[in-house]
Amino acid sequence: MSSQFNQYAEFYNLLYREKNYIDEAEYITKIIKKLLAPKSSPVTLLDLACGTGKHIFHLEKMGFLVEGSDISSNMITVARESAKSNGSKAAFYNYSFQDSHKIEKKYDVVISMFSAMDYLTSMDDFLRTLKNISNLLTEDGIFIFDYWNGNAVTRHYDPVKVIRKSDSNGELLRISETNLDIVQQIATVKFSCMYFVDGKRIHDFTELHPMRYYFFQEMYNILNSNGFDVVYTSPFMKFDGPIDPYEWNISVGLKKKGK
Ligand SMILES: C[S@@+](CC[C@H](N)C(=O)[O-])C[C@H]1O[C@@H](n2cnc3c(N)ncnc32)[C@H](O)[C@@H]1O
Repeated sequence: MSSQFNQYAEFYNLLYREKNYIDEAEYITKIIKKLLAPKSSPVTLLDLACGTGKHIFHLEKMGFLVEGSDISSNMITVARESAKSNGSKAAFYNYSFQDSHKIEKKYDVVISMFSAMDYLTSMDDFLRTLKNISNLLTEDGIFIFDYWNGNAVTRHYDPVKVIRKSDSNGELLRISETNLDIVQQIATVKFSCMYFVDGKRIHDFTELHPMRYYFFQEMYNILNSNGFDVVYTSPFMKFDGPIDPYEWNISVGLKKKGK
C-alpha cells in the first residue's frame, strides 16, 4: 500500500516542531487513567499511525510499555532513528490500519492521534480498522483517537494557508490548498512544499491528503454499532471539557461493548 506521507516524512518534525507532544502525552495519560482499571504491571500501549513516534517517546517516559505502527516506511525510519538516539526501547511496525491485525498482539491501550483515522476515507477501511483494533485490545482495553468535526470543517476551513519553517539546514515553505467535497464529507488538502538552502530552492514536491470528517452523532452511531461503547468525549486537549459544536478536533475514548 502506498502512502502520501513518504515525501512528507523528511520534513514532518520540522513542520510540527511547535506542536506540544509532551502536553498531548499528558492529556492522553489523563484519559487513560480515567478509563482504564488500575493494573499492577506496566500498561501496554500501541500507537497506530504513530508518524515519527513523538507521542510514543513521551508516553514511554511516563511509564507505558510502548509500540508504534505506521503505513509510511519513511515515517517509521525516522521513528526508529529517533528511538535509537534517545534510548527508547519502543518497537515499530510498518503496517497500515487496514493491515494492523498482522501485529498479532494485545494491548491495554491503542491510540491514534492527530486525526490519523481521518485518512481512512472509505467506510470499509474504517470498519475493518475498528475490527483490527478490537482484536488488538485486551478485554478491558481502551482505544483513544481524535477526528475532524464536520461542523467546524465546513464552516471554518482555510481554502489556502501558507507556512514557513526554518532550521539550521534550510527553510521549508508549505502551501496548503483545501477543497471540500461536502457530499462525500472529504476535505482534500494539497500540500505544495518547497525546500530552500541558502536561498536556493533545492527540492519540491506535492502531496494530496484526502481527509474524511464526521459529525458527532454520525461518529457515535458508527462506533456504537461496530463493537464499541463511547465512554469519553472532549474537544482535543481540553480534558473533560464540554463539547463545543465548532471545535475542530474531537477526542473519543472507547471500550469494547459491554466491558
Ligand atoms: C497527521 S500524521 C499523525 C502522526 C502522529 N500520530 C502524530 O501525532 O504526529 C498522520 C499519520 O497517519 C499515517 N497514515 C495515513 N494513512 C494511514 C493508514 N492507512 N494506515 C496507517 N497509517 C496511516 C501517516 O503515514 C502519518 O504518519
